[in-house]
Parts: sequence; structure tokens; C-alpha cells
Amino acid sequence: MRILFVTSECHPLIKTGGLADVSAALPAALAERGIDIRVMMPGYPDALDRVDHVGPAIPLGDLPGEDRARLLPARSPDSGMPLWLLDCPRLYRRNAGPYQDLDGRDWPDNGLRFAALCHAAVRVACNAAGLGWRPELIHTNDWHTGLVPLLLADSARSRPPVVFTIHNLAFQGLFAADALPLLGLPGDTFSPEGVEFYGRISFLKAGLRYADRLTTVSRTYAREIQTPEFGCGLDGLLRQRSRHLLGIPNGADYGLWDPAEDSSLPRRYSLAEIGRKRDCKAVLQCELGLDVEPETPLFAFLSRLTEQKMADTVAEAVPWLIAAGAQFALHGQGDRALEERFKALAEQYPGRVSVQVGYEERSARRLLAGADVLLHPSRFEPFGLVPIYALRYGTLPLVRKVGGLADSVVDGSTSNVDGEATGFAFSGDTLEDLLGCLRRALDTFGQPVAWRRMQRHAMRQDFGWRGPAEEYLDLYRTLTESRAEQDF
Ligand code: ADP
Ligand code: GLC
Repeated sequence: MRILFVTSECHPLIKTGGLADVSAALPAALAERGIDIRVMMPGYPDALDRVDHVGPAIPLGDLPGEDRARLLPARSPDSGMPLWLLDCPRLYRRNAGPYQDLDGRDWPDNGLRFAALCHAAVRVACNAAGLGWRPELIHTNDWHTGLVPLLLADSARSRPPVVFTIHNLAFQGLFAADALPLLGLPGDTFSPEGVEFYGRISFLKAGLRYADRLTTVSRTYAREIQTPEFGCGLDGLLRQRSRHLLGIPNGADYGLWDPAEDSSLPRRYSLAEIGRKRDCKAVLQCELGLDVEPETPLFAFLSRLTEQKMADTVAEAVPWLIAAGAQFALHGQGDRALEERFKALAEQYPGRVSVQVGYEERSARRLLAGADVLLHPSRFEPFGLVPIYALRYGTLPLVRKVGGLADSVVDGSTSNVDGEATGFAFSGDTLEDLLGCLRRALDTFGQPVAWRRMQRHAMRQDFGWRGPAEEYLDLYRTLTESRAEQDF
């Protein structure tokens, strides 16, 4: 089966969040199962530098915002996954983030930038690029790729079916209505039945409306987004499409996220040698300027600093944590006001609070390995990869019971520390709710035997890609087989 997987980011070429991890690991898991899969993404400078280029550029002609677009065939440097980088120098060759400039402002032409990606994918799908390779199905991801099903809806009956995966409903790709012709969209699509969303064009709505099947990245989030509380204004449309909406959980690539193999760590460890994790903690405390105290519980926050991740409530909880005798270490970036707030806490509590503003893989891994608890409360969480990585590192996640977190962490309530518990989970969304859960985590930390038992149980969890990849395969087969019958 031939699949075109279209995405805006992919590890290790460019990454701002979990989408990049999924865009690397899921295609690799599918390729292992015999699928001929190609990943298509923008040719950002880092991506152009990091890939192995494998053939001559293929001219694509004009796309929105670029009149000399090209597809560059390449391979991912680590997995060898076949890639097509869309080379549009005017749109993508910028030395800053994939979505934002160095000051954290969205690029003003993001509509054009991702419309170009969608039009290019459609040309490949319709065999208009002269590649000699035509997908039997297109798998699109998040708003950046939402126009693909819309643009294909009008084309020939033999178009490939499209799966659209929602990684985060809160990012919607909203643009002014007068951009419609620039984005290469037919005028009649601008209606409430099409892409119009409160007077603007919504790339996300286009994906939700026109894709053959919708998936999202956990079973709980698939239910939640059909309610007004989590639906971001699109719950009505999602309820209409509920027959075609499926939750398939993400997985962890344990080839990359395993403390026994992780070359970023000062000392590697496994379930059998879990005691070595102490060395990672001591080195981390030393590197971060925290008092080197093996018996002090160390809470880590490794996250984008946003409203989604409840970073504001975490900041409120820090003085309480310190008063309770714990340490707190953060590695993350995002909202500038939150960054400043956390930096002020680090100044206020030298030796007890460490704040590293940034997005750097090695520091992220060392933090994950050295900490005792990973704080990951979220107002909403489609999946949440960091907590499942934390499980494998024996760092107990403390999460809010929401989205994928509700599906992946088993709460160690007092009645459950002997059972299946792998972390701590709370309901509610106030500071008090979070503090109640922190209290339970601290109490359990004070019981070394129970703690070690939970760590071992956490490290044994298997959230690998095998099961999820099979679920995607079933979905692809259903769609391609029913298309083949229609064509017949
Ligand atoms: P989201 O996609 O919402 O940010 P996920 O937990 O699904 O949340 O994925 C986050 C990804 O980003 C993980 O791979 C995690 O290791 C990585 N990450 C988060 N914060 C940082 C950081 N400050 N530096 C490096 N990597 C980070
Ligand atoms: C999004 C979500 C996160 C999810 C990731 C990968 O960024 O916020 O929960 O794990 O996508 O699907």
C-alpha cells in the first residue's frame, strides 16, 4: 500500500512538539509493516541541512506564494525514511521557527506557507508532479494540512481517500476571508458548510469537514472534543462526523526513549539497575545549581509554557512545593510572561528551583532521567508524550485526568500503590486540586518501598507503536478497499 504522510514537522529535522515525534515514529512503524510510505513536509533550512538528499529536484511550478516550487527527494538521517521536502525558498527558508519568528510571533504569511504544502500534496496525489508514484491514501495532520481533503474533494472520482489526524484542536489555522483567492480556494467553499468559521477561513475546519476519516490521538480526547468544553467551537461538526471519528493513541519510540540506551544521560539505567538513576539525579542537581540532596524529591516540568499545559498553576504551586521541602526544575519555553514568572521563582529560591528557558533535546532527556516526578497537569491534552516517556525513565508522572493522560497514567491513590499504579492523577482544575495531588505524591515519596514498586511498574509499561500502527493499518485498509470497490 502506498501512503503519502503530510506533516509540518518531523523529528530529527524540525520539532516544536509531539507532532514531530509522531511524524517520525508512526511512518517508521508502518514501513516496518510493509507499507510504502513517503513523508512530505516543508523544506525548512534545518531540514534541508539534516537530510540525506537522494535525487534530483522535481519542479512543481507555481504554488500559492511561490512560483518555482520543487520537491526534493531525501531520506531521514536516522531511520532512512523516504521524504519529500517541499522547497519554496520564499516561504520556508527563514532562520527561525517553523511557525513563528524569533520574537514568538506567527509568520504573517502562514496561510500561504501551508496552503502551498497542501496544494503540493494534491499534485502528488493526482499524479500531476510526474513522480511515477501515486499514493493510494493520504494521511494529513493538524491544521497545516487541512486544505488537502478540501482541494481533493472537487477532483476526479479516483482521488485517494484522506485521513486527517487531530493532534491539537486548539490550533486552527484561521486567516482573513479575503485571502481565499490567494490560497487557491474556490469562492463557494467560504460558507458555514465549508471552511468559514466566525467570518474567517479555518484550515482545521476544512480538514474536519472534508476528510474521509478523522482520527485523534487518544480515545478520551476523541470523546472530549465532541463536547462544548473541549470542542473549541467545532464540537457540533465533530458530533456530526462522529461515525467517522476514531481515537487511536500515540505510542513511544522506545528505540529513542529508553534510559538503558540514552547516550545523553550521565549514567544509563534499566529496570534491573534502577539504582543508577540516583547518579542521574545527583549530576542533574549539580548541573542545575540545585543543592545535591539525594533524599529530596525533585519535581520536573518539561513542557511548552502555555495555557494548555497549566503552566500558570504550576508556577503558583512552586512556593508550596519548596516549603514542603521539595525541589523544582523546569526546561521549557513559550509564553514570555510565564517564562519571566518562572525565572523570578528561580531567583527567589536559589538551590531549590532551577529554570532553563529553551527547547533542547539533551537537557530534556537529562531532566527526565534525573527527576523523581514529572509534573504534567494540563487543561486539555490530546495525548501527552512526555508522561509516557517519563514512565519508561522511572520518573512518576503527576497528571490531570484529561485526554490521553487519563488513558495512560494509573493513579497511585493510597488504595492503589500496591496495585497497578504508575503515577498520580487528579481531577478538577484549581490550585487546590493540584496541591492535593502533590501532597499525595510527597507522601508516597516518603515510603521508599511503595515508591520503588511504582517505579518498576511504570518502567514495565508498554506504550510502543505496535498496537497503534496496526489500528492505522486497519483504517487504511478499510478505506482503500472500499475505494477499490467503488472504482470497480
Ligand atoms: P506537545 O506536543 O503538546 O508539546 P507532547 O508531550 O506530546 O506535548 O510532546 C512534547 C515533545 O516535546 C516531547 O518529545 C518532549 O520531549 C519535547 N519537549 C517538550 N519540552 C521540551 C524542551 N523544553 N526541550 C526539548 N524538548 C522538549
Ligand atoms: C499535540 C498535543 C499532544 C500530542 C501531540 C502528538 O501537540 O498537544 O498531546 O501528544 O500533539 O500527537
